[in-house]
Amino acid sequence: MSEVLFSAAPIKDHGIEHHDFLRAVIDGLGKTQKELPCRFFYDERGSVLFEEITRLDEYYPTRTEAAILRNCAGEIAAASRPGTVLIEFGSGSSTKTEILLEAMPQLGAYVAIDVSESALEEARARIEARFPHLRVETLIGDFSGLISLPAICRDAPALGFFPGSTIGNLTRPEAITLLRHFNDLLGVGSRFVAGVDLKKDTVILLPAYNDAAGVTAAFNLNLLVRINRELSGDFDLNQFRHESVWNESAGRIEMHLVSLCAQNVEIDGHRFHFARGETVHTENSHKYGVGEFQSLARSAGWAPAKVWTDPERLFSVHELAAGA
Ligand code: TRP
Repeated sequence: MSEVLFSAAPIKDHGIEHHDFLRAVIDGLGKTQKELPCRFFYDERGSVLFEEITRLDEYYPTRTEAAILRNCAGEIAAASRPGTVLIEFGSGSSTKTEILLEAMPQLGAYVAIDVSESALEEARARIEARFPHLRVETLIGDFSGLISLPAICRDAPALGFFPGSTIGNLTRPEAITLLRHFNDLLGVGSRFVAGVDLKKDTVILLPAYNDAAGVTAAFNLNLLVRINRELSGDFDLNQFRHESVWNESAGRIEMHLVSLCAQNVEIDGHRFHFARGETVHTENSHKYGVGEFQSLARSAGWAPAKVWTDPERLFSVHELAAGA
């Protein structure tokens, strides 16, 4: 019998995913401040565009986090017992994971969880070729709906890995709920390594979410492309523009799509009106001071153990411990 690991049907089941997508789009565009849920960014083209974002000059988080991980991987490894299973939530291309894998020959297995099947399979092939003795397991689905870990994790020390400041894409209450969920999943004695983007000057922050080459704009607009294709929408892509703004009181970058004119859009028989200048809010990227994130982690049941940053204090990597 196969294990039941996700609370909802896997993303592979197109019927359910289609229904979930349609519901979410209709609900989101029906709100006063229109919004679209960010989990739908990562279709095949979205995943490719995001990989491109991570290589942009303006996008400091990826290379900075990788540099921090290169410096602290030895310390993380030293604190890990033999047979530890590394479990990554939203693994994408698993590029940063290799830094940890290289430093941790004692690992029992690597479990990669992501919504993109193609990203998972590419990562698996690359990692199996580079670490032939490592057991690799992939799970296709939304990590927030994961209800248990695969059998391979039973009775093994667990090390959760959540890089890329993905935690910042949630609101504070949502972040606490997710960190508590990871705490429940990973269990007593587990540890957790999270990458968290730090607060900084908007001179650095804004271009990271609005690059000169327009890759982030294409990534944001791809949501509309996906709605047109999968939900028979009729968005005119030339009548929307990408915008990113710093919301000081909420401590976050917000991504929006701005309607360039007054227009109507039809999606699966539902009609939505956009005023000129009206926006669809598509993503948040919260930034946290070190102490600020540690107190958030504490309220989700994690004890802050260590934290590393780069010399310019752009980004942070936190190690957290679950109660004994
Ligand atoms: N976790 C990434 C971040 O907040 C995700 C991201 C980067 C992103 N650029 C984006 C999400 C542009 C939406 C649009 O930095």
